Amino acid sequence: MNRQTKRLAAILGLALASACVTALAQPAAGPQSGTVFRNTVTGEVLDTAEGKAGGRDTPGVKAFFESGKNLYIDDKSCLRNGESLFATSCSGCHGHLAEGKLGPGLNDNYWTYPANTEDTGLFSTIFGGANGMMGPHNENLTPDEMLQVIAWIRHLYTGPAQDAVWLNAEQKKAYKPFKEGETFPQDVKGQCKPLEN
Ligand code: HEC
Repeated sequence: MNRQTKRLAAILGLALASACVTALAQPAAGPQSGTVFRNTVTGEVLDTAEGKAGGRDTPGVKAFFESGKNLYIDDKSCLRNGESLFATSCSGCHGHLAEGKLGPGLNDNYWTYPANTEDTGLFSTIFGGANGMMGPHNENLTPDEMLQVIAWIRHLYTGPAQDAVWLNAEQKKAYKPFKEGETFPQDVKGQCKPLEN
């Protein structure tokens, strides 16, 4: 091989390798066991049994593990909890409104990892982390709490409705970009019980 052919081969190899990593990073549905979650960066399968105890047997988590659908989206009782969990675990790096700070913004339509436009991808990133300062959060949040945080992140979205992959057609029609100032009463009805602490 001459020098140029070698360079081309190297570039092709790189492109192929990164295509493989991206393919691996996409969550794939397993045959029987519902959704398989994979590390956003390495593609390694995540064990959802690992980490903070509890929050694995709620109807919301069971449905999510089975179908990948997050039932907490737009549920006010879960948004109330998600807002508070996001404030403690995420906003220090991602900003109060997920507008971006040390970590990237999570309220627009740009994603470093496009898998995060699916709730299964976002769950994998929270559970298993990504690069650098974005460590795994499965030690301080249960899967149920992660679904509440996800509902809140989706609620904070201010980008165009057509790019909100996580919304169905009906939700897209009803979509209004997030505006500050909304409050949720402690006793608002829904699937999520008030947080204990
Ligand atoms: C210590 C700082 C820090 C904390 C705390 C933190 N993050 Fe991150 N986060 C980052 C950094 C830095 C990145 C960029 C990493 C990368 O690109 O791989 C990131 C990346 C991400 C991404 C990928 C965004 C994209 O564009 O694809 C998501 C999603 C995310 N964080 C969600 C969260 C959530 C949810 C929480 C709270 C449970 C959280 N992060 C807590 C620093 C943090």
